[in-house]
Amino acid sequence: MLLLALESSCDETAAAVVRDGRLVLSNLISSQVDLHAVYGGVVPELASRRHLEVINPLVEEALRVAGVKQEDLEGIVVTRGPGLVGALLVGVSFAKAYAYALQLPLIGVHHIEGHILAIQLETEVEYPFLAVAVSGGHTHLYRVDGIGRYQLLGRTVDDAAGEAFDKVAKMLGLGYPGGPIVDKLAVASDAGGIVFPRPMLKKDNLNFSFSGMKTSVLNYLQRLDAPPDKTTIGQVCCAFQAAVVDVITQKALRAADSEGLSRIVVAGGVACNSGLREKFSQLAVSRGVTVYFPTPLLCADNAAMLAVAGDAYLSQGLVSDLDLNAVSNWPLEQLNCN
Ligand code: KG4
Ligand code: ZN
Repeated sequence: MLLLALESSCDETAAAVVRDGRLVLSNLISSQVDLHAVYGGVVPELASRRHLEVINPLVEEALRVAGVKQEDLEGIVVTRGPGLVGALLVGVSFAKAYAYALQLPLIGVHHIEGHILAIQLETEVEYPFLAVAVSGGHTHLYRVDGIGRYQLLGRTVDDAAGEAFDKVAKMLGLGYPGGPIVDKLAVASDAGGIVFPRPMLKKDNLNFSFSGMKTSVLNYLQRLDAPPDKTTIGQVCCAFQAAVVDVITQKALRAADSEGLSRIVVAGGVACNSGLREKFSQLAVSRGVTVYFPTPLLCADNAAMLAVAGDAYLSQGLVSDLDLNAVSNWPLEQLNCN
């Protein structure tokens, strides 16, 4: 099946053409980072407007790069939620109009389901597996028994990991989005003896908390006599990243252990983090699990990732009606197909 996929849940407009939920013929992303950087974060109204401006030419370009025509398409997949509602509505409305005009089936997909299944575009990972969904809005552990079958095992009780990276970067005056910048500085530095707490690591559940970790960074910076110099900034980044990586890897391994899962898929923007990739890879060997990371392009927001679930749902006749609406708050576990 030849599908056009569209993503507009936050600050990237993305369009992709994917065959049979596996073969990526094009996967284009129009980033709005420059637009929001001056504000230090995503401005929802500006995001919606930019999505509107770029979605039409982006879709045309995705078709051109893929070498396919509108009439070759067999379905339209779109992120239905969660995300910024105005931003989501641009993709959902465009997809509905396109599907209606071309008389094609429409499939609304959960953004995090897209992230979790992105790996299948590169490596066939057998079910069941543990999914570690780490992004700007999520730090969630799921048992995945198949497409549409997600059981929540643990989640952040406050900030998401990506959000914490972005906030710490802001405290350090490093710009937006902060995750990649903190990562780069962390890799180039040592922690200089700084140790931040690992919240909830000792607790017997599989939940996370990043807000306290973020406050510890703030307290550390406020105790300094002068604004942090380059060396101190590097050390703080390194110590903060080590703390985040520690809790995510330890809790994920604990979850895999208790569920008897030998495969772990790490997904979402924070899965680009070099410290997380390295630590998981090291621990995997000693713990006898296989850890999968998509390539960075497929970790971050993109549209091709939606086609894995889209293709599967379409094959089962699970399509959306033309009254499909965007949903800003939508827990993944509420979508279980059985
Ligand atoms: O999945 P994503 O692109 O969008 C959401 O669905 O939220 O994730 C974006 C988040 C941002 O918070 C960004 O700072 C973080 O992923 N991120 C990283 C890295 N690359 C992106 N965090 C840590 N290290 C990175 N290398
Ligand atoms: Zn995302």
